[in-house]
Amino acid sequence: MRILVTGGAGFMGSNFIKYVLKTHPSWQVVNLDKLTYAGNLDNLKEIKKNKNYKFVKGDTVNRGDVKKAIGQGVDKIFNYSAETHVDRSILKPEAFIKTDVFGTFTLLEAARQYNVAQYIQISTDEVYGSIKEGLFNENSPFEPNSPYSASKASADLLCRAYFKTFNLPIIITHSCNFYGPNQYPEKLIPLFITNLLENKKVPVYGKGNQTREWIFTEDYCRAIDLIIQKGEPGETYNIGTGYRRKNIEVTQFILSELGFGQEMIEYVEDRPGHDLRYALNSKKLLKLGWAPFLSFEEGLCRTIKWYQENREWWQKLKSGEYLKYYKKQYLKR
Ligand code: DAU
Repeated sequence: MRILVTGGAGFMGSNFIKYVLKTHPSWQVVNLDKLTYAGNLDNLKEIKKNKNYKFVKGDTVNRGDVKKAIGQGVDKIFNYSAETHVDRSILKPEAFIKTDVFGTFTLLEAARQYNVAQYIQISTDEVYGSIKEGLFNENSPFEPNSPYSASKASADLLCRAYFKTFNLPIIITHSCNFYGPNQYPEKLIPLFITNLLENKKVPVYGKGNQTREWIFTEDYCRAIDLIIQKGEPGETYNIGTGYRRKNIEVTQFILSELGFGQEMIEYVEDRPGHDLRYALNSKKLLKLGWAPFLSFEEGLCRTIKWYQENREWWQKLKSGEYLKYYKKQYLKR
């Protein structure tokens, strides 16, 4: 089995590659990554010498790069490459349209050309928009509210069309919020943990009443592994755990685990178009035989420990480019 993972130097892509090389040691993995600010080869240093792993630096938007990565052919494509941070999409949407939409298009074309046996689109629950109560299922309408989620929804629609029109064996996955080791410290959980480890306050948007559903990276990788074995082409699978928490609850948990009090919270101006609540019905996935191994609190404790023990990894990222971006964001609020 030879697979192409795009965006494999990012948080989820790198975790997935490490999972695959451990779980399916005979598989060959090609990682195509542009190495944007979020792509980090440090995430893969444990496996960089593995003979079944190959890295190709390149952009999914560029046909030549995709061709180079595919080489003589691959059996499966996992499209992890994406611009993913909602706040960035509000400041500068263009890269999202390019990578998330046009990059998907290029990969779909390549999947057709090379007769790929399976194409997995890694997508998000944010395509459904926000839901006050109840759950989104796989047939819920798309109502994206940020340039990020609109670009992911557009890519999903392209995938659907390529299944219907060209019979391309596509599976779309809509996941809830990932967290775990190696997540870039701009997302809520790693930002708050690393801020506190640096004795800095944590910026809670609005009153922190928004709800997110959370999945630990390893549980997520196991879900994808099951979906590629038991899922049907043309189908969409929600990947949710049922672990839904308000942002303020997540914040309080992190504060208390790290021994801080309320004085470390800074309530800042809300994110424009901020989705209030995400909640997935994941019965279709559960029927395939999946269940999360870790509770949210266990996963969060493991994550906190990883950031405590890997300061060098994130301290590098929190200087330079990230800091410039973060200050701009923060001062705006
Ligand atoms: O739902 C899946 C999605 O989760 C993924 O598709 C996205 O790529 C990923 O970025 C994530 O989107 P969110 O906007 O939910 O994640 P983020 O970590 O940016 O924010 C989580 C919640 O925390 C959200 O309600 C905004 C809030 N927040 C975030 C940051 C960065 C804060 O209150 N303060 C912050 O500084």
